[in-house]
Amino acid sequence: MKLAVLVSGNGTNLQSIIDAIKEGYISDVKISYVISSSPQAYALKRAEENAIRSTVVEKKDLVSRLKPIFEEVDLVVLAGFLWIIPDELLKIRPMINVHPSLLPLFGGKGMYGMKVSEAVIASGMKISGPTVHLVTNDIDGGPIIMQKCLVVKDDDTPETLLERTHPLEHQILVEAIKQMSEKEYKIVGRRVIFS
Ligand code: GAR
Repeated sequence: MKLAVLVSGNGTNLQSIIDAIKEGYISDVKISYVISSSPQAYALKRAEENAIRSTVVEKKDLVSRLKPIFEEVDLVVLAGFLWIIPDELLKIRPMINVHPSLLPLFGGKGMYGMKVSEAVIASGMKISGPTVHLVTNDIDGGPIIMQKCLVVKDDDTPETLLERTHPLEHQILVEAIKQMSEKEYKIVGRRVIFS
């Protein structure tokens, strides 16, 4: 299965996919492209170090640049990519996104990174954790593929919560890609069921 991975920052989620492929935990999976919304993204360095083709896109060229790339791959992975994906690109290939909260809570337009963990702490919730979901035109609202929980500690800050959420994101993103590369899935109502 060929992947296009879209990034904008550090790229720790990208790294977790690279590592899982290297270690053989996910086999028959190859990252064909890394696409970044920022030329400064450290994720680009990770791509370069692993001999993965990469490119930087501008918002105005999103459709024309990404369409031919998406057509070449089997799955598109949003790993910290924060721009909204136009409908025209959504229908090309299945696309998944990793988000640092238990959706459908704390998602939607403008909810990313630290903003999410600030909202979780402010809500008083005692549990949190990341979600991997299918991307639809409903921002952060697509069918859920995988989630993992952690307990919010009394002394957690938005920073520590986000830091503790990250390793769980890496686990479920790799696991979701593994499942999607090895199994069929169907969407029943709002549920994603693997067979
Ligand atoms: C991750 O925490 C991911 O959940 C978040 O961007 C970060 C990227 O980190 N995405 C969102 O908030 C999407 N709404 P990374 O560059 O180290 O992988």
